[in-house]
Amino acid sequence: MTEKKNALIVYASPGGSTRHVARTIEDRLKELGGAVSVLDLGRGADAGAVHDLLSAAAGDTLLFIGSPVYVGRAVPPVMSFLESLPENSGVAAFPFVTWGGVSSGIALWEMGKTIKEKGYHLAGAAKVLAVHTMMWQEDEPLGEGHPDPDDDDMIRNLAAAVYAKAVGEGDIPLDALDYQPEPLKQEMLKSSLKQAEEKLPNRKVDEDLCTECGICADVCPTDAIAFTPYPEFGPACIFCFNCVRECPEEAIKADMSPVGPRLKARSEQLDERPFTKGFL
Ligand SMILES: Cc1cc2nc3c(=O)[nH]c(=O)nc-3n(C[C@H](O)[C@H](O)[C@H](O)COP(=O)(O)O)c2cc1C
Repeated sequence: MTEKKNALIVYASPGGSTRHVARTIEDRLKELGGAVSVLDLGRGADAGAVHDLLSAAAGDTLLFIGSPVYVGRAVPPVMSFLESLPENSGVAAFPFVTWGGVSSGIALWEMGKTIKEKGYHLAGAAKVLAVHTMMWQEDEPLGEGHPDPDDDDMIRNLAAAVYAKAVGEGDIPLDALDYQPEPLKQEMLKSSLKQAEEKLPNRKVDEDLCTECGICADVCPTDAIAFTPYPEFGPACIFCFNCVRECPEEAIKADMSPVGPRLKARSEQLDERPFTKGFL
């Protein structure tokens, strides 16, 4: 019988798909008798308690860490969390990403690299196809219907396999996550959200429609919105478009129409397969 383990599941998920994967992992680990703590790196998240737990953790602790892929990378709140991790050679970590069918980029590799630099074991990893959160106005968004029950099954099996392993037993090499063709990897190493900003649809607040209700700020995962008195987007913005999607008055305008065709063309060009994959 596997001994009882402690698991920490930490994730960012502006659109909910990464949260879905995190919950699937959580449910499976609880079925196995694990003690599970969860941290959503959204608005007001305090990573202090998780860091304290990890500083003190022995070989019975697992860290699952999840991010959406944005412009081929893990999102800034996840990378900041990983970069500030206390070093601990007794903890096994499992990075996972959800991606919208364009490219899973170098997100898993960069998460795995930081995890290893912090001295953690790389117990496995997963990339999971999910609906593309910039395509909510499209009839057929990339990744539609994902994560689906097959994706969930794969995640449940991976979580159980990682739970059953002793720390350090069967770690995966970082190279396993270095699966993109070299030119694409180099391109993505140079890409960043800041740089992509000029290519992303601009948001404009229609002051006649805005009621200053504050919902945009409530759904902003990085606390990037200030009211002056209308919403303004600060430097912490990660361009998740939750504010545009969730505004009940449709007062935050963004022309998403060129996005769909552009992303679909890029998806066809890159043709990344498989969509969902576990690394163990
Ligand atoms: C600004 C932005 C950039 C994105 N970049 C990519 C990308 O490079 N490749 C991709 O396949 N999907 C990309 N996506 C789609 C997300 O990775 C995908 O929808 C993910 O599942 C969202 O996770 P969440 O629902 O947990 O927020 C992007 C989405 C946004 C909003």
